[in-house]
Amino acid sequence: MRVVTVQQFGGPEELVIGEAPLPRPAPDEVLIRVAAAGVNRADILQRQGHYPPPPGASPILGLEVSGNVIETGSRVTRWKPDDKVCALLPGGGYAEYCIANAGCCLPIPKAVSLVEAAALPEAIFTVWANLFSLPYLRTGEKFLVHGGTSGIGTVAIQMARAFGARVITTSGSVEKCRFCVSLGAERAFNYREEAWAEGAMKWSEYDGIDVILDMVGGDYFPKHLKLLAPRGRLIHIATQRGNAVTADLHLIMSKRLVITGSTLRSRPTEEKAALRDQVEEHVWPLVEKGMVRPVIDRVFEMENVAAAHERMQSSEHIGKLLLQMDTTSGS
Ligand SMILES: NC(=O)c1ccc[n+]([C@@H]2O[C@H](COP(=O)([O-])OP(=O)(O)OC[C@H]3O[C@@H](n4cnc5c(N)ncnc54)[C@H](OP(=O)(O)O)[C@@H]3O)[C@@H](O)[C@H]2O)c1
Repeated sequence: MRVVTVQQFGGPEELVIGEAPLPRPAPDEVLIRVAAAGVNRADILQRQGHYPPPPGASPILGLEVSGNVIETGSRVTRWKPDDKVCALLPGGGYAEYCIANAGCCLPIPKAVSLVEAAALPEAIFTVWANLFSLPYLRTGEKFLVHGGTSGIGTVAIQMARAFGARVITTSGSVEKCRFCVSLGAERAFNYREEAWAEGAMKWSEYDGIDVILDMVGGDYFPKHLKLLAPRGRLIHIATQRGNAVTADLHLIMSKRLVITGSTLRSRPTEEKAALRDQVEEHVWPLVEKGMVRPVIDRVFEMENVAAAHERMQSSEHIGKLLLQMDTTSGS
């Protein structure tokens, strides 16, 4: 089968089309003929050598796909050949065929095409796991998500709105801010030009923000501690401005803040399967109703994978970038 391989750690030019043997499913796995794969920021880091796959995962890039089930392992009862699914993967999605754990697959919602469905698993699982599974974000609360036009941001805005929260966001341009408002954010701050933390505090009428989903870290951390309301929750999912932070511990104690974070890829398969069940019960109906829809920036053919990575690194995209493996599958 054809796969995208990384010749050596480095830039997008290191991504080339190669050949690999067709994988075979273990008892709890399915083999999928990939229609499309989502491109994620983590893929850039893995290509650069900064984000190795967890033990046992495929070394091939790609954390989410959509496609047709071709073969099922001996213990799989839910799926059968020809079923159309989208799946969360620990790796291996940038290929014509991939292996997924049966517990990490979901049916394609009727409101979404097969190709578009590749945009859903990574962002929806991440947002669900970090905001709603415990739950940290509740109806009527004030919520800030950074990077409103990222794959994560577009889903977080829509899901938070669907669950009755009030949403604000940050983004890197006027055009992106406008898009975030069209998606349901009450206010979007251009973080390159505006004092977003002061703006957010004013928007909250100086009560503070209840929940922040942060993919930035670094110097944003002390701003978040000031901005959070009493009993506020700060949830970290990435550290684009660095891991090391300075904290005023007194603020954490006096406001009784909860500070947490997580990564999705490293979770055990059983935990991901439990998230799949929750997502199917609580989020899939919202996708069916069009209340949460995939926002797709561009679909690239597999051969143009380097261009897809360049676009993500340029940060010009709004929403998800996809790789289409099988151009006969339609969109
Ligand atoms: N922990 C987890 O389980 C998990 C799972 C999935 C993704 N993630 C992380 O979530 C983030 C989004 O993922 P993605 O694949 O959707 O990537 P993406 O589309 O490339 O998004 C990155 C986002 O970060 C924003 N950003 C960068 N610097 C910023 C700053 N100083 N202030 C505000 N926003 C800033 C960008 O905004 P502009 O483009 O407007 O500049 C962009 O929207 C990535 O950092 C990824 O690693 C974590």
